[in-house]
Amino acid sequence: MASFHSSCSFCLFLLIIIFVSFGSDLVEAAYTIPRARSSTVYRPSVWTLAHATFYGDESASSTMGGACGYGNIVTNGYGTNTAALSSTIFSNGYACGQCYQIKCVQSPWCSTGVVTITATNLCPPNWSEDSNNGGWCNPPRTHFDMAKPAFMQIAQWKAGIVPVMYRRVPCARTGGLRFSFQGNGYWLLVYVMNVGGAGDIKGMWVKGTKTAWISMSHNWGASYQAFATLSGQALSFRLTSYTTKQTITAYNVAPANWNLGLTYEANVNFH
Ligand SMILES: *[C@@H]1O[C@H](CO)[C@@H](O)[C@H](O)[C@H]1NC(C)=O
Repeated sequence: MASFHSSCSFCLFLLIIIFVSFGSDLVEAAYTIPRARSSTVYRPSVWTLAHATFYGDESASSTMGGACGYGNIVTNGYGTNTAALSSTIFSNGYACGQCYQIKCVQSPWCSTGVVTITATNLCPPNWSEDSNNGGWCNPPRTHFDMAKPAFMQIAQWKAGIVPVMYRRVPCARTGGLRFSFQGNGYWLLVYVMNVGGAGDIKGMWVKGTKTAWISMSHNWGASYQAFATLSGQALSFRLTSYTTKQTITAYNVAPANWNLGLTYEANVNFH
């Protein structure tokens, strides 16, 4: 009897454990959906297999002025931990500014490091080379052609090409969004830099002190344009993240006496 009683207590104990786990799952499910929907913080993706090579030399000088339009990537804050993405993941430039962690796997040339790079360039397809022998960036391959200093943190350069695991991670940026102005009196071309969070931009609007919000179209890389006369007006920008779809507004980023060729920093950023 005593043993029956004690085993039954144990059963009850188990039942309570099961109920508590199941109950808390239900509660969590109820809270997870709205929390995920309103979340404005970009979270890392899962690790996925790809390949990596490198381009340029230790100075990374050949990584300047890539297909994202960041110009001098060092003075613009991206450093030499950058990569050119195959067109499959470059997404016509919408991937510009995204951050990836990359580690070498399954090669005797691997070192143990993990490097975080920013997408600053396109690795174009070369259809005169086989996709599995030189045409590493041909679709549908996912490939990172890394700046040599970045590659050397995960593998010996002699490897040439290595298998890697990669994942998207939030971009850690200091300060606000930066807007670099080009164009002319009737055409404002803006390069968006130093984007935190998911790092990428899908849509953009500009507003002068005397205009309504004007939708800007994607030009190339990380640049957006408005065909409008905006000189003499302080400018505000509204941006939507490509990945998270979050929209933020940066008010009065540029003063009324703004100039082409200059870069203006907002006091807001994505996270
Ligand atoms: C494409 O590959 C061919 C064959 O290796 C090479 O001669 C050519 O320079 C490559 N084109 C580009 C744009 O890299």
